[in-house]
Amino acid sequence: MRTKLAAGNWKLNGLMSDLTEIEQLASLIGSPSAEVLICPPATLIGTMVQTAKGSPIKIGAQNCHHAQNGAHTGDISAEMVADAGASYIILGHSERRADYGETNACVRDKTKSAWAAGLTAIVCVGETLDQRKSSNTLDIIGGQLAGSIPDLATAEKLVVAYEPVWAIGTGLTPTLDEIGEVHDFIRARLERRFGEGVGRSVRILYGGSMNPKNVDEIAHVSNVDGGLVGGASLKAVDFAPIVLALSKA
Ligand code: 13P
Repeated sequence: MRTKLAAGNWKLNGLMSDLTEIEQLASLIGSPSAEVLICPPATLIGTMVQTAKGSPIKIGAQNCHHAQNGAHTGDISAEMVADAGASYIILGHSERRADYGETNACVRDKTKSAWAAGLTAIVCVGETLDQRKSSNTLDIIGGQLAGSIPDLATAEKLVVAYEPVWAIGTGLTPTLDEIGEVHDFIRARLERRFGEGVGRSVRILYGGSMNPKNVDEIAHVSNVDGGLVGGASLKAVDFAPIVLALSKA
C-alpha cells in the first residue's frame, strides 16, 4: 500500500506574507491520510518549517547544486536545504531542464547529493508536445528514468513525478488512459531496474494542471500515487480539496 502524496510546487512564488496560506491549509486539511508537502522558494524554507510545526505539512526544496559546498556563487546545496528543515526536494523539473539546460546526468548527480543529505528526491520526467505527437513519449520517459535516477533507489529516497511539459500551466491534461499508460510504464521500469519490492513501493505522482476539479478522476488512475501541483497549490482553498481528494482515493 503506497501512501498518497499531495505535493505543492510553489516555483517562483511566495513571500513572507504568504505563510498565512500554510496556516490556513493546516486548518482546512486536519489530519489527512495523504502525505502533504509544500516546496516553497528557498528563501521561505526555514520559516515555513516553523509555521508548519505541529501540522502534517512537510516542507521541501525545488532544486540544489550537486556539490555539497565550494565556489558556486548563488547556489545552495542539498545539505543546506536539509539543514533548513526540508525533507523532500524536487529535482529535474522540466522548467529547470529547459531554463538551465539540466541534463539527465546533472539530475542524477543532484539526486545522489540529495540522498546523501537524507532528503527524498522527487525526480521529474515528462515529454514535450512534439515528442508526444511523434509517438516518442515512452522512449523519452524511459531515457529520463534511466539517466536521472541513480542506482540503489528505495521508496524512502525516491518519488517519481510524471509531468507532461505541455500540460504544465496550460489547463491541458492528457486523457486518463494516456496518464495510466505512462504511469504503468514507469512502474514497470522501476520494477525491472530496482526489483519488484522497491519498484512497487516507489510512489509515482502526476503533475500538470491538476486542480480541485480533475484530481478525483486522475487520482483513481492505476499507479497514480499523488500529485505534484503548481498553480493550484498556491492558495490553501485550492490545495486543501486536492489533499482531501487524494486522501480518499
Ligand atoms: P501546474 O499545476 O501549474 O500546471 O504546474 C505543474 C508543475 O509543474 C508542478 O511541478
